[in-house]
Formats: sequence, structure tokens, C-alpha cells
Amino acid sequence: MVKISFIGHSAFKITGETYSLLIDPFITGNPVAAYSDLKADDILLTHAHGDHLGDSIEIAKNTGAQITAIFELANYCTEKGVKAQGVNIGGKVPFPWGSAYWLPAAHSSGTPDGRYGGVPASILINIDGKSIYHAGDTGLHYDMKMIGEFYKPQIAMLPIGGFYTMGINEAVRAAQWLDCNKIIPMHYDTFPPIKTDPEEFKAELEAIGKECIILKPGQKVEI
Ligand code: NI
Ligand code: MN
Repeated sequence: MVKISFIGHSAFKITGETYSLLIDPFITGNPVAAYSDLKADDILLTHAHGDHLGDSIEIAKNTGAQITAIFELANYCTEKGVKAQGVNIGGKVPFPWGSAYWLPAAHSSGTPDGRYGGVPASILINIDGKSIYHAGDTGLHYDMKMIGEFYKPQIAMLPIGGFYTMGINEAVRAAQWLDCNKIIPMHYDTFPPIKTDPEEFKAELEAIGKECIILKPGQKVEI
């Protein structure tokens, strides 16, 4: 059993049988953040923007968690004095709990000090036999079809807020291309420009036979 806990925005904690990991832990300055425990073995980052890098450095310092991110962003984290490993698009990255792949996203990436953060990414996580896809910040892109064909994730977190990422209509198509039947919407309602109605997304997914799991920050689902 793997637990997926929504912290809010694009931040999640994933808890497997022995290990746990955080994705894009944006807490400080996140008006919706809700969580019970930020302790984890690993922190996985999709890209360098403040609402994704978030509190990673502080959490890594306080807990000893290792950060894994695209090379340029990992270097930034290492300079801040925490343990970080740099990866890139497409390679299998082994972890004690399974493996992960950093895969394409259509977006940008810059560190808080204004440097290039490397390419933005999505992340496919394999933990305790479950495959979980976090799309990162992204517009609709056709690599999602490749990811569906090649990896067929069991559950996917997709941004639906629009403005900085794809919105509901594009995310419905993304779910189809990913060949994924369980979707958790993310990256909406945190700030005024990304306000949207997740119930509309849910209705559109249900109309094509897919399950939409709307989590409020602080809620979790088991898969
Ligand atoms: Ni971003
Ligand atoms: Mn974002």
C-alpha cells in the first residue's frame, strides 16, 4: 500500500512500506499548505521555481533528506550545503524504495537567485510496485503520449489551474495520452490567477471513464 498525501499546490508526500518521499515541498508562502509530517528519506524536484523548490533546502538540512533534481538545480542545492544528486531527462534513477525517471515537461526553470535551473521536468516514480506520475508544471505536450505508451502510470497528478500551466481541457487530453485512469488535479486555487473548478475537471474525466481524485490539502489517498 502506498499513501499519496496532498500538501497543497503541487506538493505531495508519498509514503511506501519503508520509505517516504516529498515532491516539490512548497510550504512557506503557500497559502493552502496542510501537512502532518515533512520527514522523508528523499525530496524529488520537478523544477527550480519557488513554488516547487519551496522549503526543500530547509527540510533537507533539518531532516537529512537527499534532494534529487535536474543537474543545474541539484548544483544550486549542493551550494546551499545540502545533499543533492543531479540527474537528467530519461535515465532510470535507482532509490532504496524503487526508482524514478525525470521526463519532459513544457515549462521553464530558474533558481531563486535568477540562474538557469536546467530543463523543467515531470517525474515518474516506481515505489513498492506502484507507478505514480507527477507532471510538474507543464503545458500539454505530445511526450505524454510516449509516457503513456512506454510507462503507463497507474495514477497521475496533473496541473489544471491554467495561466502558468495547462488548464482543464488540456489536462483531460493529457490523461488520455498518459493512458492513465486515476488522476489527482494539482496547481490550482493556490493564487488568484490559477483559480479553477476541479469539479468540472472531474465531470469531464468521468465522462470518458476515468476517475478523478480531488484531494484537499492535508488529505490522502491509498493506492
Ligand atoms: Ni513553474
Ligand atoms: Mn508552479
